[in-house]
Amino acid sequence: MDHFQYRNGQLFAEEVSLDDLAQRVGTPTYVYSRKTIEEHYARLTTAFAACSPTICYSIKSCGNLHLLKLLAARGAGMDVVSGGELHRARLAGVPMDKVVYAGVGKTDAEIRQALDAGIGYFNIESEAEFENIAAIARQMGKAARGALRVNPDVSDPRTHAKTTTGKKETKFGVDIERARRFFRAYGRNENLRLSAVHLHIGSPIYSPDPYVLALDKALSLIADLRGEGYAIEAIDLGGGFAADYETGKSPAYEQYAQAIVPKLLGHNLRVFLEPGRTIAGNSGILLTRVLYLKTGGMKKFVIVDTGMHHLIRPALYDSFHFIWPTRVKPEFLPVRRSAELDLPGLEKADVVGPICETGDVLAVGRMLPPVQRGDLLCVFTAGAYGMAMASNYNAQPRPPEVLVDGGNVTLIRRRETYDDLVAQELTATPVA
Ligand code: LLP
Repeated sequence: MDHFQYRNGQLFAEEVSLDDLAQRVGTPTYVYSRKTIEEHYARLTTAFAACSPTICYSIKSCGNLHLLKLLAARGAGMDVVSGGELHRARLAGVPMDKVVYAGVGKTDAEIRQALDAGIGYFNIESEAEFENIAAIARQMGKAARGALRVNPDVSDPRTHAKTTTGKKETKFGVDIERARRFFRAYGRNENLRLSAVHLHIGSPIYSPDPYVLALDKALSLIADLRGEGYAIEAIDLGGGFAADYETGKSPAYEQYAQAIVPKLLGHNLRVFLEPGRTIAGNSGILLTRVLYLKTGGMKKFVIVDTGMHHLIRPALYDSFHFIWPTRVKPEFLPVRRSAELDLPGLEKADVVGPICETGDVLAVGRMLPPVQRGDLLCVFTAGAYGMAMASNYNAQPRPPEVLVDGGNVTLIRRRETYDDLVAQELTATPVA
């Protein structure tokens, strides 16, 4: 679901024509829809209302401060994985007790910042990390809460190998057997009170089933731990709910909730969710202009002014992003977003960027309406892990981010300049 829709053959972001917007801010540009992000947050909250979850939006998916503020104003907490993300959460005005902090490599400095801030939970990834956080908390005279990240050894076969995390052989969390030993070793620590279980099985997860499997294992672990006298007060299900990359391929929030919520009720557990892409994904698109058309052997290339440096997902995970021109004749109106659109007159092409790498692709062998130099293309469902993973490779400035709210457009991050690219290198200072 999103508010990037065609009207009379022209693509609009809410009430704003994207052609118009490109005139005003140039390309490439990330465009977000306020209505879309707020609706996703609201629908998710409603679907899970019966277990009153604390929704900790995963900042890593899209961390623009203005978007974080919109979510914080609606009551969201945040899932952070670094001191930098904690800083963003703080600037966005998120109450620190609604912040959960995951990640296998928290530094001492980051741990101190989080202890000072008084975050809700440290999601603990290993014994060594537990000992370190507890020791730092003791030195600082603090008492913090920890959720043990448990690796339930389930995954979704449709999740890319590079983004699956719930299997035994990942660097994340500890397996269930080790979790019991973990609690026996550390479950009575006073500076880092282990009082919750954290799961994150990968992303995106296109079905509720892996959550249910993981939850069954986690609940039986919690029952055992309680039996041994450990006070477990919360469960964090992590993130991974899908975004609508292709029409009809992702479960609705209600489908996830119908399978998950009944399992959670009656256990006297506070529930945390850490959704990122399902909130941000459909809320943003990447607007780009066609620079050149070219053939190479039998292949056609559509060369655009953005690429793997701004949206790395197709290059890194072979991810599908629907791409379509912003202005189309009636016969080319896309009835759904799909790799298999079968309209007469479409032409097969690779959509590629300017980066000096063969892997710089946005789409391979994609059926598209005929396009020309100067046409605008929209890369859909690019709000999550788009700008957040963008780089300056090939000394390319990163795009601006704009927020559309009805008919209003606000620049929420300006386009980078060449001066920005060299700002950190203007002086050379001897290191003492
Ligand atoms: N919680 C934890 C502990 C995570 O590691 C993640 C994502 C999330 C929550 C949020 O997952 P989401 O709801 O956004 O799927 N760059 C990849 C995704 C990597 C996800 C890493 N962790 C992509 O572009 O698909």
